Amino acid sequence: MITSTLTLKQRKKETHNAEIPFGGGGAHTTYEKEKTVGAKRFFPAILYAIFMSTLSMYLHIFPLNRSTGSHFTVSKEVSIANVDSHDTPSIEKSLAIAAAVFSQVKAAALQPQVERHVTPECRPHPTKCDGLCETVSNFIRKNRFGVLKNPKTWSHYYQGVLEYYRCTNAKKIVEVGVAWGAQTAYHLKNGMDFIDEYHVVDPFMAGYDPDDPMSQQFEKAAPGSNPQQISDAMFQGMAMDLGRDGMYLPGDNEKIDPPPVCRLRMHHLKSVDGAKLFGDLSVDAVFIDGLHTYEGVMDDINAWMSKIKVGGSLIFNDFSSSKFGVNKAVWEVANKLNLKIKMIDNTNAILGGLESCAKGPPAPRIRA
Ligand SMILES: C[S@@+](CC[C@H](N)C(=O)[O-])C[C@H]1O[C@@H](n2cnc3c(N)ncnc32)[C@H](O)[C@@H]1O
Repeated sequence: MITSTLTLKQRKKETHNAEIPFGGGGAHTTYEKEKTVGAKRFFPAILYAIFMSTLSMYLHIFPLNRSTGSHFTVSKEVSIANVDSHDTPSIEKSLAIAAAVFSQVKAAALQPQVERHVTPECRPHPTKCDGLCETVSNFIRKNRFGVLKNPKTWSHYYQGVLEYYRCTNAKKIVEVGVAWGAQTAYHLKNGMDFIDEYHVVDPFMAGYDPDDPMSQQFEKAAPGSNPQQISDAMFQGMAMDLGRDGMYLPGDNEKIDPPPVCRLRMHHLKSVDGAKLFGDLSVDAVFIDGLHTYEGVMDDINAWMSKIKVGGSLIFNDFSSSKFGVNKAVWEVANKLNLKIKMIDNTNAILGGLESCAKGPPAPRIRA
């Protein structure tokens, strides 16, 4: 928690237009206003300049527009209480944000380098899958097979995404939302020459979003079983199947050879909980394909933004779909932080990353 008491004379509001990108409790900033001019008047501005130059050195992940004073998000621990992003911006807010972000920068800088590049360790994959696990695994494989073999399904963009990873030299990748593991299998097989760690994060719980048809699919894997049992079986089956045995196309004799083993690290968790396992600045790319609601995407952005390495990418699936809240959330963040949205293809948008590797069309704006 940060508590700072600043003495300042209010300045014209239009000279500062910083906004806090996300709300959230935690830090408190107290201000006193006084009429005196002189050194005190410029103290906040100097402080602000120091904060922002330090911040911009640290956060090259996303371009920072210093002339407009736009800001990077702050983590929950250092976010500012009671700052409404829709209020008229003011120097108080700029300072509050800068103070919070600065403390985050300092905290990160104080950690040993090795701590800042931690990703969850490699754990052995299950060696057994029978009973419900076997039933569910057969269902998963059938669906994975269907997705991978049919270009009319969402697998049509896998190659472009893999090329983007290769172009940006992404070695540690997180896929949030895995479904049948089709994309996971594709990248593990076709990107084995450059991907060191491929993390997947998914709770595999049915009914997560009534507007997402995928949400109703899991229960079909084993009618009569409860969602938690199916979820556990999906996790176990997929970890064994993909991670240890490397098989992904039943009846096709096609295997990921050699099996990915430690290159695949599965996390049976919701996105925001999975993000807590990763150190700041520890991953090259996060492919966000879990909850597609506006709130879900906002939570994902807040959870994963600080995990991205310098030059890393946050990728958003289904950005162009009017059915979901992805487009609205990403545009909102991009506007607040003064970021450019790039596209890999018609479906997948990027914040951060390398523009030269993004070959897609201009980012569409969809009014939901
Ligand atoms: C569209 S599917 C993912 C497709 C997959 N990326 C692919 O290309 O094959 C959506 C997935 O998001 C998962 N999901 C839903 N809520 C989630 C959350 N809060 N965190 C992580 N994953 C979530 C679902 O369980 C489901 O597997």
